[in-house]
Amino acid sequence: MVLRSMARPTISHTSTAFATVFKETVADLGRIFKTSGIVLPLAGTGTLGAEVALSNIIEPGDKVLAISSGYFGDRLVEISGILGASVDKVEVPWGSAARIAEIERKLSEKTYKAMLVVHVDTSTGVANPVKELGSLARAKGALFVVDTVCSMGGMDVQVDDWGINVCFTGSQKALAAPPGLAVISFDSKALGAREKRRTPPSSYYGDIKRWLPILQEPTKYFATPAVNMFYALHESCRMILSEGLEERFKRHAKLASASRAGLKAMGLQLLCEDAVASNTLTVAYHPKGVSDVEFRKSMAEDYGVVIAGGLGPLKDKAFRIGHMGNVNRSDILATLSAVEGSLQRQRYSFQPGSGVAAANRVLET
Ligand SMILES: Cc1ncc(COP(=O)(O)O)c(C=O)c1O
Repeated sequence: MVLRSMARPTISHTSTAFATVFKETVADLGRIFKTSGIVLPLAGTGTLGAEVALSNIIEPGDKVLAISSGYFGDRLVEISGILGASVDKVEVPWGSAARIAEIERKLSEKTYKAMLVVHVDTSTGVANPVKELGSLARAKGALFVVDTVCSMGGMDVQVDDWGINVCFTGSQKALAAPPGLAVISFDSKALGAREKRRTPPSSYYGDIKRWLPILQEPTKYFATPAVNMFYALHESCRMILSEGLEERFKRHAKLASASRAGLKAMGLQLLCEDAVASNTLTVAYHPKGVSDVEFRKSMAEDYGVVIAGGLGPLKDKAFRIGHMGNVNRSDILATLSAVEGSLQRQRYSFQPGSGVAAANRVLET
């Protein structure tokens, strides 16, 4: 349905027909983000979302506290540094979630303009406690910026209630559209920070101020929106809202817990504890003697299931299964069955069928 919607004719980006698509998409995204702030879809990817979020609020010399619990947390540190911020990084071990007491202590040592965190770092599958972190940031007056690339649309994110001032995601993960759009929300405090800048933002295209008139009246021109990508996101937002957000989150939670149960039943070790595990993806270590390249080749070629390898220090040591978007129970069972088959080919010893059976038990509850 989403892909079919993209095949419609590319109409003028300043037409009233496109303005309707634009407005409806933005309104639906506001419901999904749970915000009454502005939400802007921009042609680009999640990384553009990070750049737009940060380049509007950070000026050279600003003090920023960046919590990094993985590969994409490090990316926020890097982008902030490029923008000239003085960045203090809280390094959370891969596989753990940020500890509230540690962040509270950090925030009490210095006054920060902004605090940054990735909700679910796709390198680890750990979900950070965004709600609690938001309360801390709010109490200290720091702008709270959250990367929800790997959670928005699959896990609950309450942008307004959790005090998230700037939130960004990409179209291709739990929003379940193709890659090609970044979506960034700004609340009034974040827009105020943009307004009060002493220096212009380093990004021309990503300057939120230039987009405000378009959000008001999409028939105006600033830069050409990706018309057919809007069709896709419009359709995927409709599908998300017609499933119902809470139902969708429950589905993700169940599929995640079935995936974890299945992998554990095969004797595999997961990167993180269930208590901090995300509902969008699961990361598991390879058993000793299993080659990552051979394993994932077999998954893809023998079973038609594509999964990701480990990132950074987990390269060759772990694999990542995404279970977000429009994934269903059959996808999970087929994936676990493929994991079993691909492990058997590498002579890993376990009880065949144990993973699929354990997952099925969870799915039946
Ligand atoms: C948590 C997270 N943040 C940021 C990004 C960067 O997004 P993109 O690859 O769309 O630029 C990704 C990509 O996988 C991600 O998972």
